[in-house]
Amino acid sequence: IDPTLDLVAEIGRLRKERNAVILAHYYQEGEIQDLADFVGDSLDLSRKAAATDADVIVFCGVRFMGEVAKILSPSKLVVIPDAEAGCSLEESCRPEPFRAFREKHPDHIAVTYINCSAEVKALSDVIVTSSNAESIIRQLPADRPILFAPDRHLGAYMQKKTGRDMTLWPGSCIIHEQFSEKELVKLKVRHPKALVAAHPECPDSILNHADHVGSTRNILDFVLASPAQEFIIATEQHIIHQMSKAAPGKTFIPAPGADGGCSCSNCPFMAKNTLEKIYLCLKNDAPAITVPEDLRVAALKPLERMLEMSK
Ligand code: 13P
Repeated sequence: IDPTLDLVAEIGRLRKERNAVILAHYYQEGEIQDLADFVGDSLDLSRKAAATDADVIVFCGVRFMGEVAKILSPSKLVVIPDAEAGCSLEESCRPEPFRAFREKHPDHIAVTYINCSAEVKALSDVIVTSSNAESIIRQLPADRPILFAPDRHLGAYMQKKTGRDMTLWPGSCIIHEQFSEKELVKLKVRHPKALVAAHPECPDSILNHADHVGSTRNILDFVLASPAQEFIIATEQHIIHQMSKAAPGKTFIPAPGADGGCSCSNCPFMAKNTLEKIYLCLKNDAPAITVPEDLRVAALKPLERMLEMSK
């Protein structure tokens, strides 16, 4: 690739030429969020992917998000900047052990977090994201127990909020798992006026200190609406890009890991995407997401149920 190439301009040109839409998750680098047509959380992005009239969807997030876009919009070409952008939650829940988990609990409703593979979705009754999990769980028949996979922290938080009988898959996100309660308490002492906003993928030890718990978009809405001036943000740190842009006068501090620093809240999978790779995937139509049709149809059912139940 020519080092003198103006990547932002080239991406803009190709985007027009290809009638492409660029979708980006809040966990992407600021420069990627800034050139995207739409930035959102997992639910917002699924809705956008399902409704777009573009011919090409460039999904800047991790692979399972591109896969969701392809499942919802099969006639579109869905490309992702880096095929290696995985997810620790997806990795923790392989289809065969998940099938066995389901078979062991035949009377349970399988509620599965969107951070999983198409195969695991196809084995699930309904998909949820962090922004609609509570409302969807509350709509399920009260007499049926629930299997929740793959995030045990979101599952435990839902169990606490809804009081439902839930069996949890033992998965977790490598980012949210690393925040340190001890360092968070020390940080709060140094910033006594700061409010803590946390994503529900955080363990209980962190959520117990949170003034607000929500999805990335929900946390963003919270900090913008709050009269407070200082916030500690316990999720992947690139969400702070949107916060600082929308409220430049407020202070946003990433929650600390065990070393007291914030390097732990940098998702290595999300970080695989770069402007150069976005340019190349638009230029080469690759890497493209493909999902075999029978698998797509099976995974679509619980995804459509999610969209239906979160209207
Ligand atoms: P939300 O997009 O629902 O906030 O979830 C964050 C996440 O874990 C993305 O992988």
